[in-house]
Amino acid sequence: MIIFRTFLFFFVFTATTKIALMEEQTYIIHMDKTKITDSDHQQYYQAVIDSITKLSSQEEEEENKTPTPQLLYIYETAISGFAAKLSTSQLKSLNQVDGFLFATPDELLSLHTTHTPQFLGLQNGKGLWSASNLASDVIVGLVDTGIWPEHVSFQDSGMSPVPARWKGTCEEGTRFSISNCNKKLIGARVFVQGYEAIVGRVNETVDYRSPRDSNGHGTHTASIAAGNFVNQASLFGLAKGLASGMKYTARIAAYKACWTSGCTNSDVMAAIDSAVADGVDILSLSLGGRSNPYYRDNIAIASFGAIQHGVFVSCAAGNSGPSRSSLSNAAPWIMTVAASYNDRSFPTAVKLGDGQIFEGSSLYSGKKTKQLPLVYNRTAGSQGAAYCFEGSLVKKLVKGKIVVCEGGIYSRTGVGEKVKKAGGAGMLLLNSEDEGEEILADAHILPVAEIFSFSDSAQHLWTAVKEMYGNQNNAARIFQLKKDIAGVYQDGKSFIEHLGKLKHMWNELDPYRSHTIDSATLLKKAKEDKIFQLLSSLDPTLGKYTSMSCPHVSGLASLLKSVHRDWSPAAIKSALMTTAYTLNNKGAAVADIASTSTSKSATPFAFGSGHVDPENASDPGLVYDITAEDYLFYLCSLSYNSSQIALFSSGVNFTCPKNAVLQPGDLNYPSFSVLFSKDARNMSVTYKRTVKNVGKIPSTYAVQVKEPTGVSVTVEPRSLTFKKMGEKLSYKVSFVSLGGPTLINSSFGTLTWVSGKYRVGSPIVVTWL
Ligand SMILES: *[C@@H]1O[C@H](CO)[C@@H](O)[C@H](O)[C@H]1NC(C)=O
Ligand SMILES: *[C@@H]1O[C@H](CO)[C@@H](O)[C@H](O)[C@H]1NC(C)=O
Ligand SMILES: *[C@@H]1O[C@H](CO)[C@@H](O)[C@H](O)[C@H]1NC(C)=O
Ligand SMILES: *[C@@H]1O[C@H](CO)[C@@H](O)[C@H](O)[C@H]1NC(C)=O
Ligand SMILES: *[C@@H]1O[C@H](CO)[C@@H](O)[C@H](O)[C@H]1NC(C)=O
Ligand SMILES: *[C@@H]1O[C@H](CO)[C@@H](O)[C@H](O)[C@H]1NC(C)=O
Ligand SMILES: *[C@@H]1O[C@H](CO)[C@@H](O)[C@H](O)[C@H]1NC(C)=O
Repeated sequence: MIIFRTFLFFFVFTATTKIALMEEQTYIIHMDKTKITDSDHQQYYQAVIDSITKLSSQEEEEENKTPTPQLLYIYETAISGFAAKLSTSQLKSLNQVDGFLFATPDELLSLHTTHTPQFLGLQNGKGLWSASNLASDVIVGLVDTGIWPEHVSFQDSGMSPVPARWKGTCEEGTRFSISNCNKKLIGARVFVQGYEAIVGRVNETVDYRSPRDSNGHGTHTASIAAGNFVNQASLFGLAKGLASGMKYTARIAAYKACWTSGCTNSDVMAAIDSAVADGVDILSLSLGGRSNPYYRDNIAIASFGAIQHGVFVSCAAGNSGPSRSSLSNAAPWIMTVAASYNDRSFPTAVKLGDGQIFEGSSLYSGKKTKQLPLVYNRTAGSQGAAYCFEGSLVKKLVKGKIVVCEGGIYSRTGVGEKVKKAGGAGMLLLNSEDEGEEILADAHILPVAEIFSFSDSAQHLWTAVKEMYGNQNNAARIFQLKKDIAGVYQDGKSFIEHLGKLKHMWNELDPYRSHTIDSATLLKKAKEDKIFQLLSSLDPTLGKYTSMSCPHVSGLASLLKSVHRDWSPAAIKSALMTTAYTLNNKGAAVADIASTSTSKSATPFAFGSGHVDPENASDPGLVYDITAEDYLFYLCSLSYNSSQIALFSSGVNFTCPKNAVLQPGDLNYPSFSVLFSKDARNMSVTYKRTVKNVGKIPSTYAVQVKEPTGVSVTVEPRSLTFKKMGEKLSYKVSFVSLGGPTLINSSFGTLTWVSGKYRVGSPIVVTWL
């Protein structure tokens, strides 16, 4: 939504006429790999294009003949298909092509928050990365805004040669040459065809037509995932005992698919496809679009292709909320990362002339402002001034004043720059409706209070600001609050100092993943978006720095991968999830900043499995492993039809079993989600799980269950004895709704297998509909 608006404004304010109804549109076309007859894909797809051009031209009138479409991309590794700009009738003709599965119009995805190089600057000079003994060959690919290769995190001194299996390249372009790649930054590619087909040629005054990053986001995520992370790795003490003294580093490959106005799906697909073909081990995507069923979600489809190649995929959960379906990238094969934060340095407040005080957030740590006049929209400049558009702010109106800007158009820090350039002394940045409750504290270059607009108090501020901005005597001042707001961290360090230790929460409670229902109506409701919406609407805290926490988890995954080369993506994910914890560093329950209840305690809807503990994740005892085929059975349990399944089973002849009883809750996932009808009484649901021993032998695990309110839980057997490494044992867990009138809509518990130092924990979430 945000991006759609950006897109629109882009055209409005640059007065480009291009938008004039394009009948032609870029599509991502998924093809059934088993039906592709020609081994030369270029030739095959060219033939497909020729045939649909021919077919459609028979229907078109002479003067409307559309030219033969140009192939933008061919996808052959993570997904199977191509991208091309097609007319509506050409699109229709695709239905007659054998093997055609499904086409989606290309769209702009949003980067999950944007941070400028100022933000990076704050990290520079701290704990400089130094590598000594580099044994690991884990390669992290980042689909992002490119990379600033001179950044200190990407030096390669002391690194061993690039692994021979690496098939990637270093593409040249504006201010980027082969010599910018080294043994650390081993690949850099650019994907721009989709973007230019929609937005027009890259504006080279604001972006580089090369892997070079003009935005900072990609450089930042890369340095978190595999650059600065090095030091944090030793801080975490991960490889302790396993490779004492070893300094861990990962290689980086940058896939630039995001540009000034966003990233198109077709470019992102091409980036993922190339990354998998190039041989990355970990893929990190801090971007996403709207949530959709998996079969309509290109990122989900491509990520599935990636995990089939053994690539671990971690994605940001998105920064939006609390609106419905605000969770991005929820497929169970993706590590969906949300974030938590340290709260101390955020609180900023704005005091209006009439004495009202509103809380916001910002990373600006300079002096408070004096009481200054407030300007907004027409009192700040010309058309677009409400959003602080480039060129809209008028210097003589803005100079020395606090400017109110509506967010959601530019990057947040970008807005600050525009205000500063125009002479503004401060800024109130109000979240757009789409950003909802998201609390963002960006590193601004001037006093800023960012106000989250859809809480009650912020609504109030909105009203106050809108009422008073025209008023002669309006004024405001911005200052930092001394008091703490409810948050996760309470150790008093600033956010920046703690960036490296930022703990992560992930939302692993995918609604599709494991639920059960007791009536046909509910079943129908639950199958698709409805349940999804239910769960995400219950979750006001998704997001928050997911953009940055995602590469943290990518970095952690690469650490785990380096110590456990043979672990599947699902095993890595399981290790991270089952060893996560949900208490803060004072031993109290993690708080939920957006919680409306008095306890402020967060629930798994907000924190998923909990905060990651990398040290314990490296030695989790047991893992819940999942094969690609298990996921396909899971998709069968969601009643996917054969063409929907073919999107995922690329190249394998897979058919859903006809008569098997499949329930989504049986996916061997390290969490449990159960759905009961409100009036369910003695309703019972049983799930099966299989755990694999990666700890010690012999070992005996006993189960500990914390039952959710209103539900009894039985586990069979209650103890598991492993005699071999890699041995797999199964258990069943039954949930019985005790029923009766209930005021609660959801309740939470845990199931933990315990043996000596090992604690293998899973959250249980029960939802009553
Ligand atoms: C490119 O961006 C610059 C700076 O924002 C702007 O002045 C210029 O008009 C843009 N050029 C085009 C062709 O849009
Ligand atoms: C800004 O002011 C203009 C002119 O008064 C008005 O048309 C427009 O609706 C205002 N925009 C916002 C977002 O308030
Ligand atoms: C699968 O479902 C989609 C969407 O309902 C439909 O377009 C497609 O034709 C179906 N495919 C098969 C093989 O039934
Ligand atoms: C795929 O499997 C089905 C059922 O097992 C079989 O009938 C069909 O011939 C197979 N198709 C191919 C292309 O192997
Ligand atoms: C639920 O099951 C218990 C034990 O099987 C039984 O005693 C009880 O009457 C049942 N309650 C209902 C409402 O069916
Ligand atoms: C439970 O859901 C109902 C219906 O959506 C809602 O009205 C009620 O406030 C919810 N109760 C709680 C405790 O959240
Ligand atoms: C990690 O595991 C150890 C040993 O079981 C345990 O004492 C510690 O509390 C765990 N760490 C966290 C953060 O849960």
